[in-house]
This record gives sequence, structure tokens and C-alpha cells, in this order.
Amino acid sequence: MKIVFIGDIVGSLGRDMVYRNLPRLKRKYSPDVVIANGENAAAGRGITKPIFDDLLRAGVDVVTMGNHTWDQKEIYDFIDETDYLIRPANFSEEAPGRGMTSISRNGVTLSVINLHGRTFLPPHGDPFATAEELIEQAQTESPLIFVDFHAEATSEKIAMGWHLDGKASVVVGTHTHVQTADERILPEGTAYLTDAGMTGPYDEILGMKKEDVIYRFKTNMPVRFEVPKKGRSQLCGMYVELDDNTGKALHIERILINDDHPFEG
Ligand SMILES: [Fe+2]
Ligand SMILES: [Fe+2]
Repeated sequence: MKIVFIGDIVGSLGRDMVYRNLPRLKRKYSPDVVIANGENAAAGRGITKPIFDDLLRAGVDVVTMGNHTWDQKEIYDFIDETDYLIRPANFSEEAPGRGMTSISRNGVTLSVINLHGRTFLPPHGDPFATAEELIEQAQTESPLIFVDFHAEATSEKIAMGWHLDGKASVVVGTHTHVQTADERILPEGTAYLTDAGMTGPYDEILGMKKEDVIYRFKTNMPVRFEVPKKGRSQLCGMYVELDDNTGKALHIERILINDDHPFEG
């Protein structure tokens, strides 16, 4: 099974980047499944139903979330109505939605799990224990398991990679909005990347207007960060190929498209 993953889509520039590049990414990689993190898709904060629908129409199969899951209140109304929008599995049991889904292509099933880190982030449930529980459940159906671990600390993400080596097919980090260059296949067959990076404004700070962020750093004064609607943009993600029988990773490749790294077909 071939999978394309797209890192945190930020605002309209990020969404446009997906709409513009997904066709040629599909021609290049022929993915069976496309997964994207959509926690910042609505102007940097959460996701709306129209945006979710547009992403599916554009060819995204599963959308994962993160700490911005609940920013758009309307998500409460539709997260339980779809199989293809998941939020971190280690959120409270009171939270709507779910943290794992599965998708089948040509008789092969992939489980997709979303988890939330708790280092430098709110103290949700133990993501390591939640991962083990869900993977045990998923393995009864198929050995192909994809984990989006939405976390701040590189160490926590690397720890998850090693914790799940040989159990998950893929462990990819999201949330920091900066792509790391440490993609590898761990010894027991798990494709690993600490952070896929961000899909959105290229000349700003993690997708937010740089003037606002610099002002906050200089003054410590409260300022509402805005996501610009104009300017250059980038797409960050990853391509992985899995063995359909064992679920082990065969190949991992980072995807980075911007004016300094043009698309190569
Ligand atoms: Fe994000
Ligand atoms: Fe995040």
C-alpha cells in the first residue's frame, strides 16, 4: 500500500496548496490512501464542514487533527457523522469523535490512529498506552497501521517511534509546523519522521503573520495571530510504501514543495 501524508494544512493558502499539488503528487506516487492533518485548515484554527468536504473532494481520504480540534465549534455537529475525520485518541472519554479509523483499498485495510503528546501541551491521557491498546485492536483486522502523533517535543515523538517500532507501520509527527529531516525505517520496520512540517504560508512564522509574532516576542503583549491569505506558500508531507502482508515499511520519502524546493515529477 502506498500512502501520501500531508502535514498541518494552515488556512486558505495551505488548502490551495493541497488543491494545486495533490493531482501531480498522485501522478508521481500513485497513492492508495491520502491522509492530511487538518487541525489548522480553517484560518489556522480547527476545521469546518465545508473545508472538510472540499479536502475529501480534492482527494484526501482521511483527515487527522490535534490541539486545535475544537476551535471551530461546528465540528461537534459533524465529527460523529463521518468515518474519515479523527481526533487524538487520548482525549477525554467525554470528547465526541474518535481517535482511530480504517480504510480499505483493493482488499487491503489500513488503520489510521491520531494521538496527542503531553509534553509542553495539555495533559491528556497517556498516548503510549493508548497507542498500544488501539494497535492491539487494529491488528486483529490488519497489520497496516498509520499513526499521526501530534506533539511538541521531538523527544516525545522519537520515543513514540521506538515504542511502536514493529507494531505500527508508520509513526509520523505533526504540530511543530517545521519539517524534520530524520526520515528512516526503524529496525523492526516502522517508517518514522519526527515532523512532517506545515502546508501553508511560506514567508511567515509557523503559518502566522510574522509581524504579529515578532511583536509578541518583543513586547510580551497579547496579540491575536492571523493567518495571511496572500503570499508564497509551501506543502510539506511524506510518502510511504508498506508491505501489504506484513505491514512493514518498504520506503519512506519526505515531500517538500516551495519556491526553494520546486516539485520534481
Ligand atoms: Fe498545527
Ligand atoms: Fe497543533
